[in-house]
Amino acid sequence: MTLGPLLAIETSCDESAAAVLDDQGRVLSNVVHSQIKDHAPYGGVVPEIASREHLARLPGLVRRALDEAGVAPADLQAVAATYGPGLIGALLVGLQYAKGLAQGLNTTFIGVHHLEGHLMAGTLDPAFDLAFPFIGLVASGGHSALYRVEEDLSIQLLGETRDDAAGEAFDKSAKLLGLGYPGGAVIDRRAAQGDDTRFDFPVSLRDRGTYDFSFSGLKTKVRLTVEKLQAAQGALSDQDVDDVCACLRKAIVEALVSKSVLACRRTQVHRLVLGGGVVANSRLREEAVRRGADNDIAVYVPPRPLCTDNAAMIGAAALARLRQGRQHALTLAPRPSLPLGDDGRA
Ligand code: KG4
Ligand code: ZN
Repeated sequence: MTLGPLLAIETSCDESAAAVLDDQGRVLSNVVHSQIKDHAPYGGVVPEIASREHLARLPGLVRRALDEAGVAPADLQAVAATYGPGLIGALLVGLQYAKGLAQGLNTTFIGVHHLEGHLMAGTLDPAFDLAFPFIGLVASGGHSALYRVEEDLSIQLLGETRDDAAGEAFDKSAKLLGLGYPGGAVIDRRAAQGDDTRFDFPVSLRDRGTYDFSFSGLKTKVRLTVEKLQAAQGALSDQDVDDVCACLRKAIVEALVSKSVLACRRTQVHRLVLGGGVVANSRLREEAVRRGADNDIAVYVPPRPLCTDNAAMIGAAALARLRQGRQHALTLAPRPSLPLGDDGRA
């Protein structure tokens, strides 16, 4: 069976996205419409708005993705879509669209696990000769987890957050600091001007053997620090905000990087792939590469547009699964909660 060209669709949260890949996994087009502006006034993603926006945007995005790739619908050898985890209404839009298209074109359909997409984003760059097995860190608005990924795509969960995701810690702290939603990118910018030694924010579970993360204590510490500053001097100065951002970013990055390095060292797998929206963070990108070099670990950090939600990564995961001969029936249902990997946690 020829595997390409392949159309991939992603609508699990607040990005509507479509991409076309060829049978070698080369990205021929990758278009994303972010709904951030639609949700920002509410301080978080509103599921109903997300579904309606996906419905309105997806047909145009798919047309653009096909046009930019120079591929006619009839040339598609497969259609893929995220089927979980995510918002049920949002997933339904992309999944039903993909299944309808596959049925109309009488072509192969495959559903993709969203986090498998984030893990496989690392395979999209031909310059990076990614070998298996590798340790994958997924850090996003909804997930923070470490996996071991084998060549046959069997995936073992090594550790995950016990409470908030890393992106959630950024977003909730940004809200508290009055920096709007979502907060990761703005905290990253403000942190660049801040003093990261001013406050001592906790790196939870750092000295424990586990690969798990915990970020809720950090969020509380940020709140207490802000309240203390407000009690002492009224409103926070710009410098105060910059300093809180710098210390918060430092603590989150330290937790993510130290657990990733620990996982590589303990499992003797000296390859680390990063994925998820939080990997757009400049300190995380630098620190992972630096600590990787110190520990003889090859670290792959995808370009920023492949870290935040996109359909090219869904295409990469779909292609890997299709190569194994997998596909799904058109009865595949969306799965708001969908575990990835067997839980063999240390
Ligand atoms: O992967 P993603 O686009 O969506 C989910 O699947 O959740 O990740 C979104 C998350 C948000 O929490 C956002 O604040 C965070 O990624 N993010 C960042 C940065 N850019 C986006 N976090 C830290 N630094 C950034 N530069
Ligand atoms: Zn994501």
